[in-house]
Amino acid sequence: MSVAWTYDPVKSDMAAVEEKIAGVARQAPAEIAEQLRHALEGGGKRVRPALTLLAGKFKRYNAGLMTSMAAGVEVLHTATLVHDDTIDNAAVRRGKMSIKQRWGNSNAVLIGDYLFASSAGLVAETRNIRVIKLFARTLMSICSGELQESINAFGWDRERYFQTISDKTACLFAASTESGAVLAGLPEESIQALGEYGQNIGMSFQIVDDILDFVGQKEALGKPVTSDLAQGVFTLPVILLLERPASARVKEVLSGDRQEGIRLLTEMVRTSSVIDECYEIAQQFSSRASAAIERLPRNAAHECLTSLAAYVTERRS
Ligand code: IPE
Ligand code: IPE
Ligand code: MG
Ligand code: MG
Repeated sequence: MSVAWTYDPVKSDMAAVEEKIAGVARQAPAEIAEQLRHALEGGGKRVRPALTLLAGKFKRYNAGLMTSMAAGVEVLHTATLVHDDTIDNAAVRRGKMSIKQRWGNSNAVLIGDYLFASSAGLVAETRNIRVIKLFARTLMSICSGELQESINAFGWDRERYFQTISDKTACLFAASTESGAVLAGLPEESIQALGEYGQNIGMSFQIVDDILDFVGQKEALGKPVTSDLAQGVFTLPVILLLERPASARVKEVLSGDRQEGIRLLTEMVRTSSVIDECYEIAQQFSSRASAAIERLPRNAAHECLTSLAAYVTERRS
């Protein structure tokens, strides 16, 4: 089933966010504008900036502050993707050639850096020290998560996996909602609730991303599939499989012939019930997300956040 999740309550401001994002390439020197446009334009789901705007809808919504923050969050996300594709050696992103594939690794490093700095500039437009600090901590966390992933290559440990995806992905979802809540002047309890919502939705989102790496379609996803294992990244489906006593043989193969071990693991993940188990775990995080915002007012944004919690576990792209 393909689930369309719409940003209805914040639709007009999402257009303003898009305009701000486009401004990053427009204001850049001509030599690099094309690469920036390539990285920033279309193809992305824009979930994170929508979260910021939606979180802002619970109190004093200031469109100028909200759109700067939301654009900052999306540009930060795009920067991490440019670097992630360089690290993961991924040729396709958002249905197009990745920056590293089209312009090479050195360019990708610098375009990523340029985007990081641009996102910091957008967040600074809010003049709110709390969200600026939150932004800095989030970027540190993403780097730490990506590093943990490569340091733990070919490692399988449920707790480590959850810590890694919390740092590399959920943290930015949490910052997206938390920053919207802070800028709207919500009471501390509601800021925490929206942060918790973002954290849990982010965990669910990454688990589903890791599932789709095994069972998704590259056309729908706009990026390669079966790439995690090839990079030595053991995600939840593999970890659950290796926890089973019946996996003794594949562990043996893995330690002898890594290529054959990976081929066997891929086949086993696809034909066993671990994918269902992973979906159940993703659903638990989504339920926690919905529960976190239970006490917030029931407005259109609330409804949208609740349907997003369902969308993340049903998405195919
Ligand atoms: C991809 O994020 C990276 C992950 C955290 C899984 P998205 O799936 O939100 O990517 P875009 O922005 O829609 O391309
Ligand atoms: C998420 O991890 C990447 C970041 C948080 C930057 P993945 O490596 O799984 O993301 P995709 O699958 O390449 O989008
Ligand atoms: Mg990747
Ligand atoms: Mg992935």
